[in-house]
Amino acid sequence: MDRLAQIWPLFGLRLRCGPVELRLPRDDDLAALADLAAAGIHPPDQMPFYAAWTRKQPPGFQRSFVRHHWGSRSRFAAQEWSLDLAVRRDGVPVGVQSVEARAFAVRRVADTGSWLGSAHQGRGTGTLMRVAVLALVFDHLRARAATSGAFLDNPASLAVSRKLGYRDNGVIVHDREGAPAHEQLLVLSAEDWRAVPRPAVEVEGVEDCRGLLGAA
Ligand SMILES: CC(C)(COP(=O)(O)OP(=O)(O)OC[C@H]1O[C@@H](n2cnc3c(N)ncnc32)[C@H](O)[C@@H]1OP(=O)(O)O)[C@@H](O)C(=O)NCCC(=O)NCCS
Repeated sequence: MDRLAQIWPLFGLRLRCGPVELRLPRDDDLAALADLAAAGIHPPDQMPFYAAWTRKQPPGFQRSFVRHHWGSRSRFAAQEWSLDLAVRRDGVPVGVQSVEARAFAVRRVADTGSWLGSAHQGRGTGTLMRVAVLALVFDHLRARAATSGAFLDNPASLAVSRKLGYRDNGVIVHDREGAPAHEQLLVLSAEDWRAVPRPAVEVEGVEDCRGLLGAA
């Protein structure tokens, strides 16, 4: 293990599910992901995100992208954390899978969000990366539930959640770029996670991260 991962064990965390690997991005990984995101995540007439961060133009786009990830790193605390994991498929950077929690030690609930570069969507990667973080929180951190959500006009994200067994958990309305847009809230319980066989996920380095995640 390198020195940085000894100091900050989250850098040693690795999740693998088939061809997909997730790990905390180093700065060079962030540069590649920033350019991938700038190349496009969704058509310009759509907005799958609650904050319209994909509207910025280069080079401000890439700068605010890396600042966002640096901010998550610097604010990371057991009481409130966000793990924004770089996703590679067959070694190629394809997107980010986030998992975040507040008061995880008490609530044992984690929320997820994700994106893939447009060229990497629709090949099953979004499902595998979600399975990877669900295995982390349910099988290694003893989560009680995982939550997610997607706008009603985001069928790919909703399909990933539904095929993994999430249940509908209400609908809320957002101000999306000045117009109302409905978000389907979703929840997956630990019981529902364990009720069906899941793709195998290899998790490395989690022991040293438990304290940081409020899951000691
Ligand atoms: C959401 C996202 C991460 C999913 O990743 P992905 O690799 O494209 O997803 P997968 O290929 O694993 O699965 C997509 C599922 O959606 C289904 N789907 C896609 N478009 C669909 C449509 N128009 N109608 C119905 N189902 C659709 C696919 O058939 C597939 O389901 P299946 O495997 O049962 O056939 C990815 O599409 C993405 O990054 N989108 C843009 C950003 C985004 O929306 N992020 C989430 C914000 S909540």
